[in-house]
Amino acid sequence: MKDTGDHVKQLLSEQQIREGVGRLADEIQAYYQGRPVTVVGVLTGSLVLLADLIRVLDMPLRVGVIQAHSYHGPVTTPGPLSINTDLLPDVTDCHVLLVDDIFDTGHTLHALTERFTALKPASLRSAVLLRKSGRGEVSLQPDFVGFEIPNEFVVGYGLDYHDQYRNLPHVAAIEPEDIAEADKAAGA
Ligand code: IMP
Ligand code: MG
Repeated sequence: MKDTGDHVKQLLSEQQIREGVGRLADEIQAYYQGRPVTVVGVLTGSLVLLADLIRVLDMPLRVGVIQAHSYHGPVTTPGPLSINTDLLPDVTDCHVLLVDDIFDTGHTLHALTERFTALKPASLRSAVLLRKSGRGEVSLQPDFVGFEIPNEFVVGYGLDYHDQYRNLPHVAAIEPEDIAEADKAAGA
């Protein structure tokens, strides 16, 4: 697959993302009504969203991160999920808002919800920039969603394909034939 040229098509522009993040922030502020929140970004994909979102949230908050990852190597189908809580502050009795880049099957959010529930926060909610239509495999849904997108593999604005493309300022879809080729080459 070539760099950001021929094989990726823009799905959401920088301007659309900015507006979507603004809408997310409005909903989150309206929901918490000034209560202090611990915003927990799910690394690595949420990095860009986290940075943009906290700067438009006009409310008391602190920031934590957790690492969850399920894609290993150049593939577009998830492998086993690993969660690293080493960088997480104490969240007992805190209002926790998980922030992730995308809700796809929902297994990541489901596993994170279980992990956080055990830490006894005062409340637990979740926000994602993107939700893929018709892909959910768990009953749980994110509480705040920026955009519904079609079932395509997307990159940019923090989202990666094999650790590439996170730095694109927009969100783009990778062409299916390129994914098939790359997955085949990776033996997926
Ligand atoms: P889920 O567990 O299937 O909901 O997947 C959530 C995680 O998979 C996200 O946090 C992303 O890291 C990754 N993911 C799912 N779909 C995509 C995609 O289209 N592009 C890049 N990463 C994705
Ligand atoms: Mg992720």
